[in-house]
Amino acid sequence: MIQVAVLGYGTVGSGVVEVIEKNKEEINKKSGEELNIKYILDLRDFPGDPYEDKVVHDVNQILDDPEVKIICETMGGLKPAYDFTKRALLSGKSVCTSNKELVAAHGPELIQIAHENKCNYLFEASVGGGIPIIRPLNYSLTAEKIDAITGILNGTTNYILSKMEKEGAGFEEVLKEAQEKGYAERNPEADVEGYDACRKIAILSSLMCGKNVKYEDIYTEGITKITATDFIYAHAMGKTIKLLAQSKEEDGNFYAMVAPFMISRDHPLYMVNDVFNAVCVHGNMLGDSMYYGRGAGKLPTASAVVSDVVDCARHIGKVIMCFWDAEDVKLTGIDEASRRFFVRVSAEKEREAIAVFESVRVVEADVSGEFAFVTDVMTEKEFNKKAEAVGIISRIRIEG
Ligand code: HSE
Repeated sequence: MIQVAVLGYGTVGSGVVEVIEKNKEEINKKSGEELNIKYILDLRDFPGDPYEDKVVHDVNQILDDPEVKIICETMGGLKPAYDFTKRALLSGKSVCTSNKELVAAHGPELIQIAHENKCNYLFEASVGGGIPIIRPLNYSLTAEKIDAITGILNGTTNYILSKMEKEGAGFEEVLKEAQEKGYAERNPEADVEGYDACRKIAILSSLMCGKNVKYEDIYTEGITKITATDFIYAHAMGKTIKLLAQSKEEDGNFYAMVAPFMISRDHPLYMVNDVFNAVCVHGNMLGDSMYYGRGAGKLPTASAVVSDVVDCARHIGKVIMCFWDAEDVKLTGIDEASRRFFVRVSAEKEREAIAVFESVRVVEADVSGEFAFVTDVMTEKEFNKKAEAVGIISRIRIEG
């Protein structure tokens, strides 16, 4: 029997316990040995909960117990998760986590400590909720040189944008629904400002190049400035608006960014709605492949954590390879990246905008008092200069 401990009995932690209990037979068969949840660490008590007798408040009870071989860290945040994880790995206990913040900040260090101590630090649930994406990058696409990843990596913002598009719903109201469904972060700023997607693309980008892509270096813009009017224009253009996280390696340059983009109906991510996430991976031999599923929520995320527990159970005392060196990648700034932009200006600025942007494609929509257009392909730097000269209401980048 393999003893497991769960750190944090919140949304994901309680999901881990539920998945292990409900799919006991399947999981035990696939692990090759029976798994037993010995401890659940939380500051709170859970009177009446079927697992109340497993709840402990002192992490040392878990870390000092040689029987515990696998720990699920579902606490989130850096403190005290970093300290607990490090101590667990140093004592040879494998750790499976959904904590993208910790993986993005300390991934290479924790992987190395795990390997030095013949155990594993696995983080399938840290990106894309229940979608298998870390394992495909680590084990399946090993014959590929991966040169681009584009994804919808945050369930909360995709849920909000989808509802805004379909129902014309207000931002605050939909955010509340996402929180009630257990999709949003405790502080939803991390979702709506793009920080969560930024950490996730940093993790994927690091696995893509085998070195460390620092999330702090990634240009990040959230969805708080997207309005119902933007969707009126998007519809008129046969497009929708999605928060995309991208990274691309081209001619020795490495670009990464998170921002809302307008995408058209023929884009593979166009139909990815609600809490669903999807990741498009481009490899030099395979070409495009896409991974799709529920990107947030208790059971999908817990399922990914438990898939890692099974992997650890199958590899007790053995190291599962993961190529993510501590050496930092130097990212190329987005200033030189070229694309088209959708732009809104007040109606009085129509002539001036045409004069400054020269060649524009006018967007006709049922919006009064405004002039809207799509620019030619230009660099971010050029665009910013022109936009500043005219004084625009807003702009959204166009993908593809
Ligand atoms: N808040 C995150 C999201 C949870 O909405 O995607 C899953 O990482």
